[in-house]
Amino acid sequence: MYEIVSMKELAPRVKMVEVNAPEIAEKAQPGQFIVVRVDEKGERIPLTIADYDSASGNVVTVFQEVGVSTQKLGKMKPGESIKDFVGPLGIPSEMARFGRVTMVGGGVGVPPLYPQARALRKLGNKVVTIIGARTADLLVFREEMRSVSDELHVATDDGSMGFKGFVTDLLKLLIEKGPKPDRVIAVGPAIMMKAVSNVTRPFKIKTIVSLNSIMVDATGMCGACRVSVGGRTRFTCVHGPEFDGHQVDFEGLMARLRTYVEQEKSSLRRYEESQRGD
Ligand code: NAD
Ligand code: FES
Repeated sequence: MYEIVSMKELAPRVKMVEVNAPEIAEKAQPGQFIVVRVDEKGERIPLTIADYDSASGNVVTVFQEVGVSTQKLGKMKPGESIKDFVGPLGIPSEMARFGRVTMVGGGVGVPPLYPQARALRKLGNKVVTIIGARTADLLVFREEMRSVSDELHVATDDGSMGFKGFVTDLLKLLIEKGPKPDRVIAVGPAIMMKAVSNVTRPFKIKTIVSLNSIMVDATGMCGACRVSVGGRTRFTCVHGPEFDGHQVDFEGLMARLRTYVEQEKSSLRRYEESQRGD
């Protein structure tokens, strides 16, 4: 069992949970994820690590309350315990002195960029960050990203903060203005990571994306997280979660992400009815 140290609402339906898991905090590296199972009957949910601290033994992740499991997790209180908290999983982000690195985060995809930006900056990279959300209220980890970036740019779809438009519109403007980044790293909705890859392709900028595939076992056995990369089938849980964005078949990924939408909706309906006592 893993004790919840803190639970904080960052934005409507977006929560940050800090869990005491010393063995994960000790080994975690940027880009990795954990799999959470709230209780005995819960499904396994993969969540990207947003921070870790070996001194306190705590691991932080940010999640959106979209389904039954994330709603159950969001209702938990400090002092309560999570049944399973497994990790760190996945291949860590490649760390080197690349030069100028532009990090692009959309919505709840922003927090996983924080440990990466911090580590890349420590290595001497110039870190330029672009973060975006539909509206200012949904923008999370702005101050955290500012603290580990040489430049921070903000975009909101409705213009309520910073640049009005998608992060990809801002990315294109910044690339055209120069200097050109040596590497772009993007985390967010699949459609955003596809759009980022399309922006950088003509400029031949290496682009790394972190895929949010559906996962079941997260050990490379079930195939649920499969994705086609450069024409080869790869399993996000063991070969990723990061891949070359110019090689990813995003249409296939997005089709797979839609597979259980109806089942998830009806499961959520049943859960909400049970919570209301209908
Ligand atoms: P969202 O739909 O609110 O989008 C966030 C931002 O992404 C937008 O403000 C915009 O700037 C950009 N964006 C969205 N659609 C775009 C498009 N068509 N073209 C260009 N840019 C676009 O995001 P959300 O509701 O916070 O959802 C976050 C998503 O991130 C979820 O789907 C979740 O699965 C995913 N996620 C991924 C990871 C990962 O490791 N890959 C981690 C956390 C979350
Ligand atoms: Fe089963 Fe990746 S989640 S193979």
